[in-house]
Amino acid sequence: MNARITLENTEELLQKHGQGHLLAFWGQLDAGQKQCLLSQIRSLDLPKIDQWVANYVKKAAPVEISHDFTAAESYRPHPIGAEQQSKYAKAVELGKELISAGKVGAFVVAGGQGTRLGFDGPKGNFPISPVKNRTFFQIFADSIAAVSQKYQTVCPWYIMTSRLNHGETVEILRSNGYYGLDEKSVFVFQQGTLPNFGPDGRILLADKANIARSPDGHGGSLKALHQSGALEDMKKRGVEYLSYFQVDNALINIFDPLFVGLHVLDNAEMSSKAVVKTGPQEKVGNFCLVDGKVTVIEYSDLPDELAEKRRSDGSLAFQLGSIAIHIISRSFVEKLNSKGFALPLHKAVKKIPHVDEQGNTVESDRIKLESFVFDALPLASNSMILQTLRNEEFAPTKNATGVDSVETTRQMMVARAADWLEWAGAAVPRKPDGSDCLLEIAPSFALEKEDLKEKLGDVPQIKPGDSIYLA
Ligand code: UD1
Repeated sequence: MNARITLENTEELLQKHGQGHLLAFWGQLDAGQKQCLLSQIRSLDLPKIDQWVANYVKKAAPVEISHDFTAAESYRPHPIGAEQQSKYAKAVELGKELISAGKVGAFVVAGGQGTRLGFDGPKGNFPISPVKNRTFFQIFADSIAAVSQKYQTVCPWYIMTSRLNHGETVEILRSNGYYGLDEKSVFVFQQGTLPNFGPDGRILLADKANIARSPDGHGGSLKALHQSGALEDMKKRGVEYLSYFQVDNALINIFDPLFVGLHVLDNAEMSSKAVVKTGPQEKVGNFCLVDGKVTVIEYSDLPDELAEKRRSDGSLAFQLGSIAIHIISRSFVEKLNSKGFALPLHKAVKKIPHVDEQGNTVESDRIKLESFVFDALPLASNSMILQTLRNEEFAPTKNATGVDSVETTRQMMVARAADWLEWAGAAVPRKPDGSDCLLEIAPSFALEKEDLKEKLGDVPQIKPGDSIYLA
């Protein structure tokens, strides 16, 4: 039986868990604020928070490298040998069938803050394309529309936002008419939050009446899909697989028949795409096999000696980098949610606004906890990895300049368009370090290079210095 909840017993409970300071400004609050704070406190799972404080806040959870720890195996971008060739062909056919049948949905996680890019607003609204300055959201929507058209189907789009950008994201989609997609096929939902902490394990107050919280990481998507009704929506539509990707990758091939097909042929519950790392310290997650399970170890957690380890042929022992592209079976997410699950948390030190003991608002380095979606990989009964080519599918925009920046993304978008056009037979003016023109191919014009063969007649002659948009 639930004991009656009063201010007194809430105070007592908080004291017991070392969180009594949450009521420090109680006397200064009006009735509405008091009620609001009390309900936030009541929603905290304090025994669980005690564990988080001990395991994550007060110490950086060391990644335990098991004895049974090796590099993960993957499918190559192209098949090796006749047997694999026929498997790839079968996978492509199956993938196309599943896409045509509307069984695959697009799922972008777009709840992050994008602090490093220094862009005010949801990252999906950043104008990234090299010729037309089209935004990430626009590029994704164009791809979804083009695939729906190509396969004569409706591909739904699930978009995860967070409390930091939900309203703005919805408004951007609405004011752009959902970029021509049917509003009913775009499902926008918010991820959850977790409280912020001081280094001593005390929960922070954002102001005198509210607990400071941050989005719970992209791992929160697996719960949010369930809680928001997105899983239910998928079920109603007959969507069985989610093509998961990040908001910062303009080269994403959202509906890849080979990837979908291999996932299903291998009875995988969650699969991943990988690229060969550019070097031992590239800032991507590393695919490993831990106790026989596919696992991603973040770049910051892989010990240097393992990151640098080489095979006899000189290649990196841990060479498969995660590009945060997955196929996730709906049944897997349903299973996780039906039996209850918890992904491990990771600690990040960030500038977090909060009130100090005197009640002044300050901003300083404090702790946020988040979960990562790839930590669900070891929970899958089967997991498959498909290697892909970086120049075809991975151009992360993390920074305004330098590595993984707006500039490198635009260069990669132009380079891929140039490669595709040349492959199809068009002439592209070249400089020693790339193409001597700006090129942008809209997904409606070509989703893959093969689509260009029959469109060559629509490609104008490209002269040095030209800016060409093919749509
Ligand atoms: C991430 C991966 C890394 C991978 C790299 C590829 C992590 C911890 N690392 O790095 O393994 O190699 O991308 O580009 O993810 N997001 C949310 N909600 C959140 C936090 C993030 O939706 O609470 C979304 C962001 O909007 C973004 C994506 O998750 O789309 C990645 O977040 P980001 O912080 O940029 O991850 P990285 O550290 O760059």
